[in-house]
Formats: sequence, structure tokens, C-alpha cells
Amino acid sequence: MPFPSSFIAELKSRNPIETVISRYVDLKRAGSNLVGLCPFHSERTPSFTVFSDNFHCFGCSAGGDVITFIMKIENLEYRDAIQFLADKCGMAVPAQDYKDYGKPKSALTREKCFEMNKIAARVFYSNLNSPDGEPARRYLDERKISPATRIHFGLGYALNSFDHLTDILISKGFTPQEINENFLCGISKKNGKPFDMFRNRIIFPIIDVSGNIVAFGGRVLDDSKPKYLNSSDTVVFKKSRNLFALNFAKNVITGDKPDEKNLTKSYAKPGEMILCEGYMDVISMHQAGFGNAVATLGTAITSEHARIISRFAKTVYLAYDSDDAGQAATKRAIRMLTEVGIDAKVIKISGAKDPDEYIKKFGSASFANIISASEGQIDYKLNEILGKYDMNVSEQKYKAMTEACGIIADIRTDLKREIYVERLSQLTGIKQETIYSEIKRTVRNENKKFKHQFSELLPKNIMRYDDRINTEAASNYNAAAVERRIIGILLLYPELLNSKIKISEDDFVTTFNKNVFSNIKKIYETGETDITQLNEVYTPDEFSYIMEMKFERMPLSSNGEDALKEQSELLKKLKADASDKDETDLLSVIEKIKKEKLKKQQ
Ligand code: UTP
Ligand code: MN
Repeated sequence: MPFPSSFIAELKSRNPIETVISRYVDLKRAGSNLVGLCPFHSERTPSFTVFSDNFHCFGCSAGGDVITFIMKIENLEYRDAIQFLADKCGMAVPAQDYKDYGKPKSALTREKCFEMNKIAARVFYSNLNSPDGEPARRYLDERKISPATRIHFGLGYALNSFDHLTDILISKGFTPQEINENFLCGISKKNGKPFDMFRNRIIFPIIDVSGNIVAFGGRVLDDSKPKYLNSSDTVVFKKSRNLFALNFAKNVITGDKPDEKNLTKSYAKPGEMILCEGYMDVISMHQAGFGNAVATLGTAITSEHARIISRFAKTVYLAYDSDDAGQAATKRAIRMLTEVGIDAKVIKISGAKDPDEYIKKFGSASFANIISASEGQIDYKLNEILGKYDMNVSEQKYKAMTEACGIIADIRTDLKREIYVERLSQLTGIKQETIYSEIKRTVRNENKKFKHQFSELLPKNIMRYDDRINTEAASNYNAAAVERRIIGILLLYPELLNSKIKISEDDFVTTFNKNVFSNIKKIYETGETDITQLNEVYTPDEFSYIMEMKFERMPLSSNGEDALKEQSELLKKLKADASDKDETDLLSVIEKIKKEKLKKQQ
């Protein structure tokens, strides 16, 4: 009986994998990944890698997500690992008998949600402008949010009442159950009565790129807690996917439509986006002429956010808070955005806590200046390294140089590389030639390591005859290999499961892979794309093994619909072909690998 996926998503976003793993492993940057010495087997050169939201060890094949990691390292069962992570971030774990996937699909349709949200937004809006909305209006005045901006964002106010909105929605024909599923009311545990979820809060409607109101955020008017309340994931809202104000920003960024409602001068440039932490930052920025600002919603940026952002913007300016948490979030965002090919830059906000405060203190023109002065990610990383070490101590300077050269080695174009070599040379007094030769050495080593990892990994996959997890792979190695590819592709691209290519459990030959496929399918059918709940069904080793199917596909370029089609046709043939268990073929594969190994050793 799995936990609600919204709970797992929040748990994961509050426990970023790199932060959790850093408590056990000393992680170092290597290209866009983090690497360290594997805690699950003994090794002297790091093959333990953290990337996206996963870890994988090229040495011992341990792998999975943050929950698998805790299960393995703390030796905990799935539920205890969840409890462990929840305790770390002060979250309450939902009751154990909660049924989520497996439970019949909600009767609440998307259309009904949109309709309900539209009514709610109107209620909130008119509250704000009613006599009861006086304290909220005063609050917005204090925060210098103009009447035009209030209308533009459709801001509202939830009355200080337990039944105002719920009563209206019920009178319009929605059931308490539906209102609850859409996060607009709670249901009292004591008497089973519904009550308004948002009370005495400024309301920020969250609108998707098609213009539907999908959720709400609400801020208190004073210092009470929680400061912000956000809708949980619903049929129409996924925190890991939606971005606040993307509906407005996308037009500004793509230049489709000038932001006509914004009467101030626009500072936004096509193809550029500003990413920040909060609702108020976004609103302040839009009001000040930066209509290209968006925010994640009470969560760290996810790889899904990054993918969506990359559809609109080539360059993203990060404007996170200047505190430690903001800096950690900045690093994570750089990593996520770089992975999808975005040029990430960091806005240095000094003299204020966040963009909203900055603009109020120093004005829009000054904010535009710090945007154009913002550091590229390479400058940001180089400065971070040089700041971390004492450059007057030779040993430390050496370490700093090695790390800095590692950063420059990742740069792909000669021109850009030359610019940073020159800069590093200026900053450290080390000759440019010396830096170049160190970079060359780094690149050579990285290439060697990469080739080595994959040449070790790939034969192991062909030689599934020693497969301890899928025991049928030995006698069905062709089919098992094809099944692995299919599952790998589906893990990378969940949406392909609903493509034209029809593939079913019945096509699978080996029982283990068949079950994996069927479990993944079940999860995808609930609309969820994170397979973490399989941690409960499989042992960590099995889960690692499943994740490995995904990692194997990652370095390959052909993972789309065509590849899936090819592999599923192949699998159907193999299934039909009873002579799959061809011993001679297996032996010839082993022979080939042995020969290759010998060649390598010579
Ligand atoms: P901050 O605490 O930095 O608030 O949270 P802020 O955006 O500066 O808000 P103001 O200026 O005090 O009004 C940043 C973001 O984190 C999320 C919200 O999305 C918020 O905008 N958050 C914060 C929550 O979801 N819940 C909270 O209780 C606090
Ligand atoms: Mn703020």
C-alpha cells in the first residue's frame, strides 16, 4: 500500500539527494555529476556517481534514488527509510493504510477541477475587494503591490472563515469529497465535516500554460506559520512540474506577445528567464518590468521543471535568496539546468534578502544592472573554488587549481575555454600553458574513466548468464537483454508507454522483467512518473538493478519511439522463437568478451 505520491514528492524535494548523500560520502564535482568513494564497496578511485535524482556506482552496481540510498546505508525497510527522511525534515508520515496507486481512479475530472478553481478564484478575488478584505488590501498596499498588478495576477483573499468557500462550492454542486481532492477543503477527523483549507490568507492563483487555474498559494498577513500554504498535488497540479507565472512569462520570453498589461518599461530579453524562490519575488519583478520571472512552488527545482523551462528559455538567471539555503538551491539549479542544455547565470543580490526586497530598496534599473553583471556559472564555480581554499598555502592552491581546471575542462568550445584559462591565470598567477596542459590531462583521464566504466558495464550486461537477480536471463539472454532495453527506454521516457507502440506483459519472456514492466505500467497509469514506490516491492539490490536498465540507456542517443518499436518487435519475435535458449550462441558471446578482455590487458 503505497504512500500518496504527493507526499513522496515533497519528501524527496525536502531531502535533496546530494544533501542526503553528502552526510555519508564526500562528494566532488566531475563534469555535471558528483562523484565520491562508494560507501557500499571498498574502492580507492571514485566510481560512485550522483546525477539527476539518482545515484549509481559503476563499481558495484548499487543504484537508485534517495530512498534506496537510505534503505541501503541505514539498513532500513522501505517504510522505515521514509520515516527516517521525514524525521530529518520534520514532515509527518501519512497513516500506513493509505491507499494511492491501486485505488480506483478519482472521479474528479480535470474539467471539474478547472471549473471549481475558477469559481474559487472569483470568490477570493471579490473577497479582496469587499469590506471584509480591508486587512488584505492594507497588507498588499504595504507591500507596494499596485491595483493593476493585483488584477493582472488575479490576487485574492480567503476570508477568516471555516466555511465561506466550501459552502459556495457545495451550493454549486461540488461534493465535499471533490472539494477535498482539489485541496480547497479539509475534512474534519472529529465530525467528518468539511472546512475551508485557505483561511485569512492572501491568495495567489497558479495558472498553467494553457491558462487554466490549477492551484492556489496562500500567504498569512502576519508572522504566523506556515507562512505559505500551497495546494498539494491534485489531478491538475503537480508541484514538480508547475511554475508560478510561467503562463505570463512564456509570452514575454518567446516574444510572442508583449506583456501589454505591464505599463512599466520592460527589461526582459527574448530567450531569457529569471528563476526565483517565491510568489512575492515574481510579482515584484513583473511589476518592475521583469515579466520573464517565474518561481518553483515551495519546492526545489526538479528535472521536470528544468525540462519545461528549456522549452522556452536558453538562458536562466537564478535569483535565489542570498542565505545559505538559497545558495544550496542555486547550486542544485545550476546542475539541473545545465543537464538540459540551459546556460545558467547567477544574480548576486547584496544588500537585500531577495529580489522583492532588492527592487524596493534600490529600484528596477539597479536590478537590471545586477542582472547584466550576473556571473556565468563558470565564473560562479571558479570564484567558489578560489574562495574555499587559502591560495597562500601551496597544497591548498594545488587543490584549487586541480578543481578549477576540472571546471574548465568541461567547457566545449575553444574560444570560451581560452577566455577562462586567461582569467584563471590572471587570478592565480599560474602560466596559461601550465593550465592548458593540466586541462588536457583532466580531459584524457575523464575520457579514459568513462570508456572504462562503460566497457566494464556493458559486457556485464551482455553476460547476464551470471545474473543473480533475473535468474532466467542465463537461459534467455537475448530476450532478457531486449527486455532490459525496453524497460530502460520506458524509464527514461514514461510518455512512450502511451505511444502507438503496443507492448504488454505477455510479450515478456523472463518473469522478473515481466513483473518489473507490469509494476512500472501500473504506476504510470496513475499519472505518476517516479517509480520510487517500487522500493517497497523490491529489495534495494533489485531496485538498483532496475535503475541500471535506465542508466544503461542514458549515454545512448537512440532512445525514442523508433528504438522502442524496434526492440518490442524484436522481443515479440524472440518470444515466438522457442529456440531462444541457444547454448552455442551464449558461449560465442562469452568467448568474444574474453578475447576483448585479453586484448585490453595486452
Ligand atoms: P520565503 O520564506 O523566502 O518567503 O519563501 P518570500 O517569498 O520571501 O515571501 P515574503 O516576501 O516573506 O512574502 C520562499 C518561497 O518558499 C515557499 C513559497 O513558495 C515562498 O514564496 N514557502 C515558504 C512555502 O511554500 N511555505 C512556507 O511556509 C514558506
Ligand atoms: Mn520576500
